[in-house]
Amino acid sequence: MVIAIDGPSGVGKSTVTRRLATVMGLEFLDTGATYRAATIAALRTGADLTDEDTVLAAVTASEIAYADGTILLDGESVAEEVRSDAVTKNASAVSAFPRVREHVVEMQRRWVSDRGGSAVVEGRDIGTVVFPDAPVKIFLTADPEVRAARRAGDAEAAHQAVSDIVADLNRRDHADSTRKTSPLRPAADSVEVNTSEMGIEEVVLEILEVVADRFEQGRL
Ligand code: DC
Repeated sequence: MVIAIDGPSGVGKSTVTRRLATVMGLEFLDTGATYRAATIAALRTGADLTDEDTVLAAVTASEIAYADGTILLDGESVAEEVRSDAVTKNASAVSAFPRVREHVVEMQRRWVSDRGGSAVVEGRDIGTVVFPDAPVKIFLTADPEVRAARRAGDAEAAHQAVSDIVADLNRRDHADSTRKTSPLRPAADSVEVNTSEMGIEEVVLEILEVVADRFEQGRL
């Protein structure tokens, strides 16, 4: 069973995903990290990031893996590097290329199928494209000020002014929601949860209620 957790950045996706996975005894996959690793692969070869062919060549020549919550590129952890400014800035462009997405999505599906088809998977298009048949689809949202404040608390954004964080969030939201391939949007059958005034445990409990509901409907 796949539990799909989608939404923009700063809504608490990663924390909620990890906590939910622990509670349910499942593994979790952070698909944003897989696009960030693809971005590192492209940056390392000095690929022209506006050219899909060169970016795709760099991405397919490297191996992206995810093990125990750690993202690996060619067998080495890039857990810190994926959080760098350069990667954060360029990941939207790299992840907008349709053939790059195809390649990365194939890796994501294989990762889940290697785990017997059960995992908590977080991203932007998990419920719409990667696992459209997932029985539980959650779309997390939060008010813009709350998202900016949460991002400001993240280590990677700690040195940025809040106004820069807001501008960066807006830029990424716009890029992720308006791209042609797999734009960020809720699946028709997703349950939207606004996390602005909720703590992690509350959000996790709400998702567990959806899981229980699907179970009662015989969908799990
Ligand atoms: O969640 P994140 O900030 O680590 O995501 C990094 C980038 O990858 C961001 O620009 C959105 C993109 N992304 C995507 O296009 N599809 C996903 N399933 C996950 C992330």
